[in-house]
Amino acid sequence: MSETDNVVLDVRGLTISLPEGAERAHAVEDVNFTIAENELLCIVGESGSGKSMTAHAIMGLLPAPHVKVADGEAILNGRDVFTRSEAEQRAMRGSDVGMIFQEPMTALNPLMRVGEQIDEALRAHAEMDAARRRERVVELLTAVGLPEPESLRRSYPFRLSGGQRQRVMIAMALALEPRLLIADEPTTALDVTTQKQILELIQRMQRELGMAVMFITHDFGVVAEIADRVAVMQEGRCVEIGTADEVLNRPQHPYTRELIAAVPHYIEHRDAFNREGDPLLDAQNVRKVFSLGSGFLRRGRELVAADDVSLTIHPGETVGIVGESGSGKSTLGRCLLGLHRADGGQIVFDGTDLNRLGRRAFHPFR
Ligand SMILES: Nc1ncnc2c1ncn2[C@@H]1O[C@H](COP(=O)(O)OP(=O)(O)O)[C@@H](O)[C@H]1O
Ligand SMILES: [Mg+2]
Repeated sequence: MSETDNVVLDVRGLTISLPEGAERAHAVEDVNFTIAENELLCIVGESGSGKSMTAHAIMGLLPAPHVKVADGEAILNGRDVFTRSEAEQRAMRGSDVGMIFQEPMTALNPLMRVGEQIDEALRAHAEMDAARRRERVVELLTAVGLPEPESLRRSYPFRLSGGQRQRVMIAMALALEPRLLIADEPTTALDVTTQKQILELIQRMQRELGMAVMFITHDFGVVAEIADRVAVMQEGRCVEIGTADEVLNRPQHPYTRELIAAVPHYIEHRDAFNREGDPLLDAQNVRKVFSLGSGFLRRGRELVAADDVSLTIHPGETVGIVGESGSGKSTLGRCLLGLHRADGGQIVFDGTDLNRLGRRAFHPFR
């Protein structure tokens, strides 16, 4: 970063005190970093290292009165957050800084339609009449890649998938085009495909709005994907900060090295298993179809949950089944266990075709 970059957030000497009797005196101690326009800073560190406390302090949302900023400043858009009045901090949230969390339901009201919630955020800050706000809600839902925004704005959050809720929360956080977005582990609870889509969305919105982004994660895969710079926190202190290349490829602090060494190396698998002899389990062309919503005089829709799946497992072997949510992993497992009867294929366990056995004869196998 050069001097001429437009710094959006400048955190200096941030120290947050914990109440007496806590595991340590300070949640965060003497933390310093800046984030410029268009820059994405990842904050990494183990659970309890002070990442969320740092984020909440910048939002003016520390759990009062027992957790307090004891020292330091957080200059956001040229003004220290900590010297602003409560009303000024409230005005700052949404318009200067937006925040998204791991669990969208902590930000969304389950009793309010999605559109009304975004409308509320707009009404609190922006001078727009009802018709313009309505347009803006649809614009935002479209911008975050939600399907059929006109009908979606009338849905309640529980109707949406986890990934869709995350998109709604992002739409709310970005409704007023803040210059800083704080994301606290927003993809940790999502499956890998949805996680990738949400990361791409955050990057696209960052480019469009030129935002500074503070992204908290413990996942180094995510860091490698999106970080411009990385700050590493340990027990309330920032032990290392640098460009993504420096921190990931030439870590200086022993704690950073330890964190990076702990990342699983998926490609370096163990020695190949010796698959000689007969398999213990031999499943061929397994198929399972569920019929949905059928009833009196009504033919339901069919859902093919597993289609033409074949695999063998040898004694002593471990076979990993991977796939995104809904891809049929559990259905396959349940068919192999006889908890579902497969609609097609063969499941041979130790020489016996399980799919042909009656319920009673199957029992001893389970
Ligand atoms: N509401 C709270 N009240 C008191 N202490 C808390 C509270 N939340 C977290 N802490 C403490 O603050 C420290 C930092 O926690 P946190 O910022 O949540 O870590 P991280 O987000 O990195 O997992 C920890 O010692 C934790 O026990
Ligand atoms: Mg946290």
